[in-house]
Amino acid sequence: MMLTDLIEKAKRVLEGNWQGGFTKPAPALYPHQWNWDSGFIAIGYARYNQQRAQQELSTLFRAQWKNGMLPQIVFNPAALGGYFPEPDFWQCERSPNAPEGILTSGITMPPVHAIAARRIYQFAGDRDQAREWLEAIYPKIFALHEYFYRERDPHQEGLVYIRHPWESGLDNSPTWDEPLKAIQIDKSQLPPYERKDLKKGVPASQRPSDEDYDRFVYLVDLFRRLNYDEQAIYSECPFLVQDPLFNSILAQATEDLIEIGKLLGKDTGRLEECYQQTNRALREKLWDPTHGAFDTYDLRAGRLIETETASGFMPLLSGAPTREMAATIYRFLESNSFCTMHNNACFSIPNYNLEGEYLDPANYWRGPVWINTNWLLMQGLKRYGFKQKAMSVREDIIELVRRWGFHEYFDPFKGIGYGTDNFSWTAALFIDAALEKLEEMGGSP
Ligand code: SER
Repeated sequence: MMLTDLIEKAKRVLEGNWQGGFTKPAPALYPHQWNWDSGFIAIGYARYNQQRAQQELSTLFRAQWKNGMLPQIVFNPAALGGYFPEPDFWQCERSPNAPEGILTSGITMPPVHAIAARRIYQFAGDRDQAREWLEAIYPKIFALHEYFYRERDPHQEGLVYIRHPWESGLDNSPTWDEPLKAIQIDKSQLPPYERKDLKKGVPASQRPSDEDYDRFVYLVDLFRRLNYDEQAIYSECPFLVQDPLFNSILAQATEDLIEIGKLLGKDTGRLEECYQQTNRALREKLWDPTHGAFDTYDLRAGRLIETETASGFMPLLSGAPTREMAATIYRFLESNSFCTMHNNACFSIPNYNLEGEYLDPANYWRGPVWINTNWLLMQGLKRYGFKQKAMSVREDIIELVRRWGFHEYFDPFKGIGYGTDNFSWTAALFIDAALEKLEEMGGSP
């Protein structure tokens, strides 16, 4: 199929998931609005539908908590009953910070919004209108970044923590195995719950395990018992980690917010400090020279966890690594562990080391290739001048979709698609990658 036809098909996927004010991530598995999904979806819309791109983010930010937190899920009241956990389980009304009249979860996700907002402006046909929209969204994104640096950076070192694997976006990444195993679960004390994700046609072997879910639920139950009070959660939560993916997205989003702020004539001094501080802390605290990648710091155990996932390379995105670190990262990324571009028997970039102990090529964040992490790493590779590798990652984004469709994730060896089909961010980021390629080719498919 021609690239232009595939782009039209991708737009139809987004159209099919459009809910009138936002785009759900997938037809059945994810029936509500998700935080970072909407950011990636807006990046796709920015290329061809400015109004939708803006609306996607504006709808999401209507659910912002009073303390600035942007929730991981905004529930669609018309679609309740098909997902777990939903508002009855989260009980966010226990928090004085929860928004009134809008149903949300009580955790957040990686803050990709300023990255998306800057691209929305970049591709806008009507710059005056887009600037007006930026004026409205800027203080909201600013409040979100303030929330992270105020509530999630206990040592004021520029690294924010996440307190639930769902906040990482990489729910069952092998990086969480150790901190999750350290949580002793008394099953009889867990609130009763029923998984709904396994009833949507996706095999259990491609989803997180029941042991993972017990811990996911344990943490939600803890948060609601503590009325979502950040200080109390910081004191009691057994899962607190500073992860390179989350922090480099925050740093990159801060850099983009600075550019937006300058365009709007704002004082960006504080943001500039945050950007520099986070990049410095990534280098000083999370860089592991023997491993050749950035690691995750476990605040509870007081030590680094080796991050054998694509997250360990993500600081390329925000410009944190020195040239030397970037060269080391490049060697690891461009090796059999993460699929070299000269190997035709694999696709880059698998989320977990292909030679790693816990590789499971079909299971969610334990091996498959994901289009969003590919897209982010592509930006990081370009930033450091690794042009050939960036283009090979873009080619894999296009090839995976061309051969297997708009799946949620893909087998790193066979390519075949897993999880749900008609996945919105796959479609959205495919549109961006394919149009970029067409532009470089001078407009012909
Ligand atoms: N990814 C989670 C799920 O599978 C939610 O963020 O339901």
